[in-house]
Amino acid sequence: MNHPVIARLRAQFEAGMAEFLTEFPEGSSAGIYDPIHYLLKLGGKRLRPVLAMAAAEAEGGEAADALPVAMAVETFHNFTLMHDDIMDAAPLRRGQPTVHLKWGDNAAILSGDTMYTLASLALAQTQPAHLPAITRTFYKTALEVCVGQQLDMSFERRADVTIPEYIEMIRLKTSVLLAGSLAMGAASAGASAERQAAWYRFGERIGLAFQIQDDLLDTFGDEAVGKQIGGDILADKKTYLWIHTAASAQADELSAWTSVSDRPAEKIEAIRGAMVAAGADQAAREAMHNFVDEAMSELGAMGLNEDHHVLFAGLARMVTERVS
Ligand code: IPE
Ligand code: IPE
Ligand code: MG
Ligand code: MG
Ligand code: MG
Repeated sequence: MNHPVIARLRAQFEAGMAEFLTEFPEGSSAGIYDPIHYLLKLGGKRLRPVLAMAAAEAEGGEAADALPVAMAVETFHNFTLMHDDIMDAAPLRRGQPTVHLKWGDNAAILSGDTMYTLASLALAQTQPAHLPAITRTFYKTALEVCVGQQLDMSFERRADVTIPEYIEMIRLKTSVLLAGSLAMGAASAGASAERQAAWYRFGERIGLAFQIQDDLLDTFGDEAVGKQIGGDILADKKTYLWIHTAASAQADELSAWTSVSDRPAEKIEAIRGAMVAAGADQAAREAMHNFVDEAMSELGAMGLNEDHHVLFAGLARMVTERVS
C-alpha cells in the first residue's frame, strides 16, 4: 500500500532497527548474527511494526514511543519465519534461499533462538511505566504463536480438520501477532486497557483475513509471492482451500495425493485443479472478505479521527489485495 504515512513509519522503523543491530554486527560472534542480518535485509512488508507505530500515533502518542515494540514484533516475526521454513521444508523466502538451505538447520535453529532473545532485548527499551502490560501481551502472544504452529503441523496428518479448527489455528499462528502489535503499539502511547483490547479485536479480524490470503497466494500466486508456490499442497497443509475441497465431490482427489512426495509438480497441479473445481478459491475469498468486514466494524466503533480511520481501513483492504 502506497500511503505516505506507511512510508514514513517504515523508514523510521528501518533506521531504528539498523541502529539496534549495530551492537550485533555481521561477522562477529562466530557468525551467529549473519543469518539474522540476511533475513532482515530481505525486507518484507514490515506490516507488524507499521501497525504498532501507527496505533501509537492514533492514540495521540508518537511513532517513536512504539519503536521498541515495533522492533520486537518484527524481530520475533522473522524468528518465527526462520524456524517455520525449517518446519515447512521451504526453499524460498522473500525471493531468496531460506536460511536453513543457506546455512543448515542447526544455524537456522540457533540464529532463530538468538532472534527471539534480540526481540526481548528490543522490547526492554519500552518506557518502564508501560512495560508490565506490554511484556504480558508480548509473551502471551509468543506462546500462542507456538501453539498455533503446533496445531498447523499436527493438522498435516489429519484429514478431518474442520473450518472452526482451522480458524482457531490461524488465529493463534498469525492473528495474535498482528493484534498484539496494535495493542502493544497503543499501550506504548499510554492507551487504556479497553483501548488496547479494541485494537486487539480489530487486529485479530485482519489477521484471519491475512492468513487466508497467505493460503491463497501459496496455491494460486505467482513469483511475486517470493515463496515456493504449492508448498502448502506438498506439505498436506489444512488450508481453507483444502478443507472446503474435502467437503466436495473432489474429496477423493485429495485423499489420493495425501502423503505423496515423489511427484511434486503433478501433485500441485492435480490438487489445485480439484480446489478450483470445488470452488474453494471463491469460498476462501468470501471468508476473507467477511473477516475484513468484521474488522471494519471494529474499526468504526473505535472513534478514530478521519485520517487515522482512512489509514487503518486502507491497511485492512491491503491485506486482501496484496500479491506478496
Ligand atoms: C508471512 O508473513 C507469515 C505469515 C504469518 C503468513 P508476512 O507475509 O507478513 O511476511 P513478510 O514479513 O512480509 O515477508
Ligand atoms: C506462518 O504460516 C505462521 C508463522 C508463525 C510463521 P505459514 O507457514 O503459512 O507462513 P509462510 O507462508 O511460510 O510465510
Ligand atoms: Mg508454516
Ligand atoms: Mg511456512
Ligand atoms: Mg503460508
